[in-house]
Amino acid sequence: MQEQLQSILSQAQEEAVSLETRPAFDAFKARFVGPKGALTALMKQMGSLPKEEKPAAGKAINVTKQGLEALFNEVLTRIEAAEIAAKLGPSVDPTLPTVQGRQGSRHVVAQVRHRVCDIFRKLGFSIAEGPEVDTEWYCFDALNHPKHHPARADQDTYYLPQTSEVSGVERKEADERLLLRTHTSTVQIRTMLAEEPPLRIVAPGRCFRRDTADATHSANFHQIEMLCVDKGLSVKDLKAVLDFFVRELFGKGVKTRLRPSFFPFTEPSFEMDFNAPSLGKLSNQWIEIMGCGMVDPEVFKSVDYDPEVWRGYAAGMGVERIAMLLHGVDDIRHLYQNDVRFLRQFS
Ligand code: DAH
Repeated sequence: MQEQLQSILSQAQEEAVSLETRPAFDAFKARFVGPKGALTALMKQMGSLPKEEKPAAGKAINVTKQGLEALFNEVLTRIEAAEIAAKLGPSVDPTLPTVQGRQGSRHVVAQVRHRVCDIFRKLGFSIAEGPEVDTEWYCFDALNHPKHHPARADQDTYYLPQTSEVSGVERKEADERLLLRTHTSTVQIRTMLAEEPPLRIVAPGRCFRRDTADATHSANFHQIEMLCVDKGLSVKDLKAVLDFFVRELFGKGVKTRLRPSFFPFTEPSFEMDFNAPSLGKLSNQWIEIMGCGMVDPEVFKSVDYDPEVWRGYAAGMGVERIAMLLHGVDDIRHLYQNDVRFLRQFS
């Protein structure tokens, strides 16, 4: 029996090499382990063997059976691989790049922030930052807001509990409250305290106001602050820089105007309006884009810059507002809902 088993295995190994299809494989397998198969026949003979030969014969049959199973698996794997290759066809080139899935991209608010900062960078401005939690002094006092100024009221500003401490944010005055900054103008103060003039910065960042959300308001929004301090600056310099900026952003044919306004930290103060052929329906309207002005000497005094020597101009603008103008978005809330069907339009 030993010899017969041996020859079954070697015969199977020989034949296996030329098997190429499933039907051929099925017939091949049946010839060994099917009801009428060679191995099956030997197993049936086991019953008539003398008792003492049975254990050795049983063991030999098992070894052969295992050898056959391994062979069957090998052949089947090879046939399956050939089937898949046939389905894919001869033109598969595994070195081609994969089909592109959806790629992520910057949020439209971040895109606009980068665009604005890049324009100012061309003019030699560098990027400055300040904390989102700040103190009343940085947000209001140093920026020449009188104590009773309406922007400081509880209904306009988020204050932290009196005893709050935030690392890196030190009180200038013992009893002042911490707050979520209402504008990025705080960064003007922080930068001037840290650096000697002349300087040119843009400061992008998140701001907070107690506003009820509607199409144009959000309690959390973004601003970009611009500040230049040097000798001999005038409104002409401010206007030249802002004209360049608005033209870079909204394209050729842009017109601008400065309209008198009021901010505690600038004197004189203006709102800048523009109109641009690129804005379609809005192109024949004046659109307000930012507040600006010449730095008030009182602000220079808060940071120990000599107002007799230094002049400054500054501006502050809303990032969402610019994004909405650039892309014709009519509701600020779309910018925060993070619906990818909306955001994908800007990727
Ligand atoms: N901080 C002002 C605001 O939030 C915006 C602003 C106006 C900033 C005039 C300035 C400026 O730097 O000169 O409404």
